Amino acid sequence: MAFDVASPSSTDTPPPGRASIPARTLRTDRWWLPPLLTTLGLATFVVYATVRSFMRSDYWDAENHYLTPFYSPCLSDSCVAGSSHFGTPIGELPGFIPLAFLSLPFLLGFRLTCYYYRKAYYRSIWMAPPACGVGEPHERYTGETRLPLILQNVHRYFFYAALVITIINTYDAILAFGGENGFGIGLGNVVLLVNVVLLWCYTLSCHSCRHVTGGRLKHFSRNPVRYWTWTQVSRLNTRHMQFAWLTLGTLVLTDLYVWLVSSGAIADLRFIN
Ligand code: FES
Repeated sequence: MAFDVASPSSTDTPPPGRASIPARTLRTDRWWLPPLLTTLGLATFVVYATVRSFMRSDYWDAENHYLTPFYSPCLSDSCVAGSSHFGTPIGELPGFIPLAFLSLPFLLGFRLTCYYYRKAYYRSIWMAPPACGVGEPHERYTGETRLPLILQNVHRYFFYAALVITIINTYDAILAFGGENGFGIGLGNVVLLVNVVLLWCYTLSCHSCRHVTGGRLKHFSRNPVRYWTWTQVSRLNTRHMQFAWLTLGTLVLTDLYVWLVSSGAIADLRFIN
């Protein structure tokens, strides 16, 4: 029998419980496109964020008080004057340590263990499986029941850290309304504000947040406030994937805008003052 095979790999032995067909898949559509786009999207963000986090320049616009989220909070003596909104309790940092080294690992952990991103990179990078009806290259499936993937369960703790960092980003965005010349509003303020609003949407739509607000309740009727909160969080939760991608985009755009303005490549568009 001739199969219409979309994948070059057709010799893999099907894992136990999988259909015993010689082809890896019978799908003839472009099933490989979503995993490919996901990989490209994630890789672009990781490369950009890594480069920017180690650059140590053009992250603070002294005139308009714009601070990129990639350098917040800046707590070291190595931070440029004005960018440390919480003081500089940490001394000088060697060049190989990002200035936001206290927040970046938690943000990375939060995203890496996010339920949506897990699905995305399990499919697109680990290919387990890459798409519905497409065999995976791995012979065994152990799920998240043992090391290292059992560590994904720490997501709930990263959620609390992400909450704190989102509050800090919000504080940065509010401070940016008071630049060198006092109160003012520019395009940078709009960019920072949109970014934090979407960061809140992403953080509050987290599955752990649903559990925090409505989990372990036996009677919703006896806890109307928690029920109402859980309902709102659940509404946001249905858009969690969109917020995951939108915030990757706004984080890059916000950083890029601060980078361009603080380096003098472009001038901030001012609406007031
Ligand atoms: Fe995505 Fe928690 S599930 S951030």
